[in-house]
Amino acid sequence: AGNRTFTIIKPNAVANNNIGNICAMIEKAGFRIIAMKMTYLSRSDAEKFYYVHKGRFFFRNLYLFMTSGPIVVMVLEKENAVEDFRKLIGSTNPEMAAEGTIRKLYAQSKTRNAIHASDSDENAAWEASFFFSDKEIIDTEYCL
Ligand code: CMP
Repeated sequence: AGNRTFTIIKPNAVANNNIGNICAMIEKAGFRIIAMKMTYLSRSDAEKFYYVHKGRFFFRNLYLFMTSGPIVVMVLEKENAVEDFRKLIGSTNPEMAAEGTIRKLYAQSKTRNAIHASDSDENAAWEASFFFSDKEIIDTEYCL
């Protein structure tokens, strides 16, 4: 039980064969993976998903990178999921990321930063529904 957050293992981490390492860190930290798929973003998908960043100086780099290769999208469940997951991944800038965080280990730059995390419960729900139907998200109450 608990609440939900949404995450993306970004193209650099997929290309570097770190899907398994990142999922292991997520599970060891007490999150349950309740939805998962490998996919990719078209340019129009990326512009929709990141619409809040449209007009920012980094937007072009962001969508070019996020459409550069496959990604893994997941919904995670845990008590205090959004806040705890942001702690686990570390700062957007990997140079600032704390020791032992996913970005400290697997990010190369602010753009190629290995992983995404939702910043609120409301955004987590919207982001999860961007990639998954209700049926693709496992109800741990009935299915686990
Ligand atoms: P994420 O939080 O997953 O989603 C928004 C992304 O925008 C963020 O990861 C970074 O990859 C990117 N981003 C945010 N701020 C900057 C920045 N100052 N320079 C480059 N990229 C950024």
